[in-house]
Amino acid sequence: MPPIQTNVPLQSLNTFGLPAVARRFVRVDGLAQAQALVAAGALANGRLVLGGGSNTIFEGPIEGLLLHVGIRGRRLVEARETAWVVEAGAGENWHDFVRWTLDQGWPGLENLSLIPGTVGAAPIQNIGAYGVEMAARFDSLEALDMDTGRSRRFDAADCAFGYRDSCFKRAERGRWLITSVRFALPRKWTPVLDYADVAGELRACGVARPTAIQVADAVSAIRRRKLPDPSQLGNAGSFFKNPVLDPRSAAAFRQAHPTAPCHDLGDGSAKLAAGWLIDQCGWKGRAIGPVGVYARQALVLVNLGGATGTDVREAAAAIQASVAATYGVALEPEPVFVGGDGGHRPA
Ligand code: EPU
Repeated sequence: MPPIQTNVPLQSLNTFGLPAVARRFVRVDGLAQAQALVAAGALANGRLVLGGGSNTIFEGPIEGLLLHVGIRGRRLVEARETAWVVEAGAGENWHDFVRWTLDQGWPGLENLSLIPGTVGAAPIQNIGAYGVEMAARFDSLEALDMDTGRSRRFDAADCAFGYRDSCFKRAERGRWLITSVRFALPRKWTPVLDYADVAGELRACGVARPTAIQVADAVSAIRRRKLPDPSQLGNAGSFFKNPVLDPRSAAAFRQAHPTAPCHDLGDGSAKLAAGWLIDQCGWKGRAIGPVGVYARQALVLVNLGGATGTDVREAAAAIQASVAATYGVALEPEPVFVGGDGGHRPA
């Protein structure tokens, strides 16, 4: 069984740079180690799984056992007629994995370049950017049932992927430790250039028929311009989900705010731009205590120095209240709030 440490500081293990400690902490490097922890009963009372810490807001100490996933490894599993099936350990850094697949000549993940976090965290919230969601390239994953020690393979249907969502955030929350993920990368590749930003970036570089690596470079350049580097300025990426309105609310919203970005989802429902709503409410570039609204993208909250999880919650609440008062729209945080009162709390 891997050694369990006590009172481990977590500031460097979350991209917002929030101070917190794990009363008990263990680093898991493989399936066998995780199974040994289950067999020893170490995971029976209170546990929390941490990957790259890019989507976790620590509000206080973690009283249970915090499992830090360090499972490495990446390999080609199968060359199917239509796709390369590639597997990576849950603890692999997402962006390094994306670059590695591209270097091997297996395109498909390029639009998801530079997203912080680990491979194992990617399916939990079905990461997405620039017209591609992870679900579109997903094959299957292996996860350990932390209650029984048995491992199981999940296909896409089992995962119930949605917009920044999966069963691991809902019904199955807290039960599974994702140990590895497989991706099916199309052998017949066409670039996804639906986003004007990406097409524009490539045009500006004089690229007419981009390779996957050129798309990855374009996406990386855009992200570097728009989003703060967590090693320079603590943040958790987009802090709020883009709200989805049902058909009736969408129609009413359009009528009241004809100039607001409002993306029709085909069935009358619509997705709004949370960044636009926050920006319109005047928050962009402002500080709420030690938490800032990033000046180049209102959807991103940043740690101006010394912020705590409670400061982040208060800043988020102030923004939510003002967007609700002005537009009648409820914003939902994307990161998960944990700790403080001994357990998980919905944001
Ligand atoms: N906007 C503003 N002001 C702002 C920010 C945005 O007016 O301060 C407007 C933009 O002009 C645009 C609209 O809002 O019309 C949408 O903004 P943007 O294109 O920047 O994308 P987003 O919807 O804010 C989403 C994802 C990002 C992903 C990008 C690109 C969510 C919550 N966010 O952002 O994902 O990289 O699209 O595909 O879905 C993340 O999840 O951490 C993340 C960065």
